[in-house]
Amino acid sequence: MSTHDITLTVNGTDHDLTVASRTLLVDALREQLDYTGTHVGCETTRCGACTVLVDGRALKSCNLLAVQADGRRVETIEGVSEEGLHPLQAAFQAEHGLQCGYCTPGMVVTARALLESNPDPSREEIREAIEGNLCRCTGYHNIVDAVESAAATLREDSA
Ligand code: FES
Ligand code: FES
Repeated sequence: MSTHDITLTVNGTDHDLTVASRTLLVDALREQLDYTGTHVGCETTRCGACTVLVDGRALKSCNLLAVQADGRRVETIEGVSEEGLHPLQAAFQAEHGLQCGYCTPGMVVTARALLESNPDPSREEIREAIEGNLCRCTGYHNIVDAVESAAATLREDSA
């Protein structure tokens, strides 16, 4: 089995690790670095539970080899909440945007990427942004409410 020495910058911290050629980014994050907030759902790029930010882009970490992330900046849900509950997380809680919570890390990370590029999205734009993230519980309506509410909070905070 061939292995590779790589460096991942996860939530601002550099990690040197050795991975197999076939190791998925999600497995390197969860199993080697213990960032277990990133969930594994389908492992076939359909559910979005494994979404992380790679150089600021929301990507499904089950669809990326760890070696492809070598030298890149990765942000997981742990990074989103590094300074306490992020406004997105607070809004998901307040708007009942989660039930079992399995999809929530991926949803929050995806929404974070959306609000970075578009601080005032329409409900349609929010729905488009999360279309690759499946939720079996909420029916999505409250998730859209939560993202809309967090966007307003973040705009106020930066005003
Ligand atoms: S686990 Fe990656 S998209 Fe479902
Ligand atoms: S809250 Fe259960 S899958 Fe979304």
